[in-house]
Amino acid sequence: MFTAINEAVSYIREKITESPETAIILGTGLGKIVDHLEVECEIDYGSIPHFPVSTVEGHAGKLISGKLGETRVLVMQGRFHFYEGYSMQEVIFPVRVMKFLGIKTLIVSNAAGGMNPEFEIGDIMMINDHICLMPNPLIGKHDPAFGARFPDMSQTYDPELLQRTRQLSAELQIPVREGCYVGVTGPTLETPKEYEYLRIIGGDAVGMSTVPEAIAAHQLGIRIFAVSVITDLGVPGKIQKLTHRDVIEAAEKTAPALTRLIIKLITV
Ligand code: HPA
Repeated sequence: MFTAINEAVSYIREKITESPETAIILGTGLGKIVDHLEVECEIDYGSIPHFPVSTVEGHAGKLISGKLGETRVLVMQGRFHFYEGYSMQEVIFPVRVMKFLGIKTLIVSNAAGGMNPEFEIGDIMMINDHICLMPNPLIGKHDPAFGARFPDMSQTYDPELLQRTRQLSAELQIPVREGCYVGVTGPTLETPKEYEYLRIIGGDAVGMSTVPEAIAAHQLGIRIFAVSVITDLGVPGKIQKLTHRDVIEAAEKTAPALTRLIIKLITV
């Protein structure tokens, strides 16, 4: 694993001039942030040694290095989901690569189903905790190069970034919810009883990504800010038949506000 990471890191280092400070993993329908980037270079996932290649509709599949204001960023346009058939090692591979490229902060966005009855479609929810109902990505042989064997998870999502976002939410007048994200494997969406169960165990939103990356990043000592766009509701009486297109369309409506918020968070 470590050799593969080193090869990917060396390949990317040759293409970029400075170490990135912040990485952004763009989720479904949230790709517009790249329009605000001063792009230095774009690297197709396919060209990076050992990098998996993304296949889902709405995800492109390249690493973009550039600047957002004065902040050097590395943007992952397209991510790897467990439900696509990648191993958890593959899903978290890019996070480990970006750590060794120098990132200190990771920003992640995703689309999620809302279970908190106060939520509406289009809401932005920053993740303040998670419940991992996927296989844990750290299962397997331990390499101390990545951090602790038994990482503490009492504060996975960076309190300072959460606090700053609360302030920015007020300043920019962009309402932001907070809550617990349940990470599931998918690819099926939830049955009504599954939504009910996930609500009972403490979830506010549910989705099929982010938790593996957050676990890997936290083990590596990276500060994490993760945010969900609520694209559908798993609330009794509000559950509707859903397609992937509905999810993308709902996420796209919220994208401009979320983009403004994240740019402010990264560049302030
Ligand atoms: N469940 C799981 N994943 C999702 C959902 C959902 O309702 N909406 C968007 N991603």
